[in-house]
Amino acid sequence: MEQKYIRNFSIIAHIDHGKSTLADRILELTETVEQREMKEQLLDTMDLERERGITIKLNAVQLQYTALNGKTYIFHLIDTPGHVDFTYEVSRSLAACEGAVLVVDAAQGIEAQTLANVYLALDNDLEILPVINKIDLPSAQPDVVKKEIEDVIGLDASCAPLISAKNGLHIRDVLEDIVANVPAPKGDPNAPLQALVFDSVYDAYRGVIAFVRVKEGRIRVGDKVRFMASDAEYEVLECGVRTPKEVKKDSLECGEVGWLCASIKSIQDVRVGDTITNVEYPASAPLHGYREMNPMVYCGLYPIDSAKYNDLRDALEKLQLNDASLQFEAETSQALGFGFRCGFLGLLHMDVVQERIEREYHIDLIATAPSVVYHAYLTDGSMLAIDNPSLLPDVQKIDHIEEPFVKASIMTPKEYVGAIMELCQRKRGNYTDMVYIDDTRMNLIYELPLGEIVYDFFDKLKSCTKGYASFDYELIGYQPNKLAKMDILLNGEVVDALSSIVHREFAYPRGRAICEKLKKLIPKQQFEIPIQAAINGKIIARADIKSLRKNVLAKCYGGDISRKKKLLEKQKEGKKRMKAVGSVEVPQEAFMAVLSMD
Ligand code: GTP
Repeated sequence: MEQKYIRNFSIIAHIDHGKSTLADRILELTETVEQREMKEQLLDTMDLERERGITIKLNAVQLQYTALNGKTYIFHLIDTPGHVDFTYEVSRSLAACEGAVLVVDAAQGIEAQTLANVYLALDNDLEILPVINKIDLPSAQPDVVKKEIEDVIGLDASCAPLISAKNGLHIRDVLEDIVANVPAPKGDPNAPLQALVFDSVYDAYRGVIAFVRVKEGRIRVGDKVRFMASDAEYEVLECGVRTPKEVKKDSLECGEVGWLCASIKSIQDVRVGDTITNVEYPASAPLHGYREMNPMVYCGLYPIDSAKYNDLRDALEKLQLNDASLQFEAETSQALGFGFRCGFLGLLHMDVVQERIEREYHIDLIATAPSVVYHAYLTDGSMLAIDNPSLLPDVQKIDHIEEPFVKASIMTPKEYVGAIMELCQRKRGNYTDMVYIDDTRMNLIYELPLGEIVYDFFDKLKSCTKGYASFDYELIGYQPNKLAKMDILLNGEVVDALSSIVHREFAYPRGRAICEKLKKLIPKQQFEIPIQAAINGKIIARADIKSLRKNVLAKCYGGDISRKKKLLEKQKEGKKRMKAVGSVEVPQEAFMAVLSMD
């Protein structure tokens, strides 16, 4: 296939505007997938994606489209996630494309991640093709949305296809638009090989499978290739494309998007963002990779069964291959034993990783409360980055503490502005700006402490605006604040995994709320358990868990052993997610209580 007939594009959108549905229709229309194999959101291959109805991983497929001009084109379509936590995946997909189809919901208009994704596409110099979706909805206002796209983004939307991905209306217009307006890949097939690794997965039989975009040159089976960042060399054993079934080919040509495997067993050799070149005919420099993503939140992950520690390390290593934004290092907790401190891009990301470990690797976990990274400036002039509150040094040694701030942009219908301002105030936000998007909608800009928004800000925002507001943020730096470590004592002993860093003005109510919450969450035991919150050794709140009076077996008089067993089994099940902390059994939810605000 000649290069001029190749089109590489991504579909980008705010969450739920219909990317995956449009991808389904495109697969159908191009007959890439046979009708009997078609199912909804075909590219969301992970169980977790299908259950939650969201896209988590990017996915690349090759399809053939015969255009109205009679020519057949090869499309590489890369479906991407919409949630802010997975922006990293989006930016990787975009680096492998020349164009982006921007899907905008005709009833919702432009939202926070619509804009964020447009900026990412612009950073990658992509041609952006706006498409207005869901025009079947009675509330659809395609003309208003077109104007919004022109006013807010500055893109000409006058010819944007008006489609219904759900009903399959006008999908061909989108494909014709791609043929006409997405540039063909530029590279030189005879130049030294430069292929960008934009994703990778681990296959138990074949080792690491790398997903690549060939920017210059070509890759053939049998070629010796080098990963330029790790300097590892391998012979290509297989390569091919996905349609979405895996199809083997003899080569990946210049401009193509596909996969290769080379019996790579060492996970560290393959880094997402690296460049692959040919050993015999090498490129002089790598392509420029992606912006490194630093985790925004950290938490400790501990196996409930301590014998599974090594399995957990193995699982994290394999997940990292598939998810370059995940970071981890070993840590120990007095309360929880051996585990890992893990860094994530956000809470949804954390949740997804945790669930994948439990499902794909069958390891039950206890996760500690997520924390952002604080900067502690010590009296000796040095600075410590603290991602685990329990590691904050003694107060005497601390000069001041700084916390990360974000610039948040909140798009909302104007009637909710009051409620949002109140929410931001409660989260210690500083008002920055407010602009009209059109007559009915506003964009509010606030500076907010990241620590206050990682947990439930998004849920609170949704509930105070009936789901109409959308939200995006970027890190802007650190600011000093009156912060201190709050310890939690169970039965008189500090539980390191429950420590958190709080603003002093909020410390008393928060301490009280945590104690009360823990009181509800920790089951009664044979003895009374005091729960205390303390700042610098001074107790600021307390609640007591009364001792257990009844024994679960008390009602089983006589000798019915099977009944007793059943009861004990039940009790064990309830305990599955508990960890013994000193003498106290603590359930998973308790570790999250530290975050409770209200
Ligand atoms: P993420 O993958 O989570 O980022 O979302 P997405 O943008 O891929 O959205 P998805 O395709 O999952 O669609 C979200 C919802 O909108 C689903 O319930 C779809 O059925 C619905 N939807 C998609 N396209 C249309 C459309 O043209 N009309 C109507 N009425 N609903 C649609």
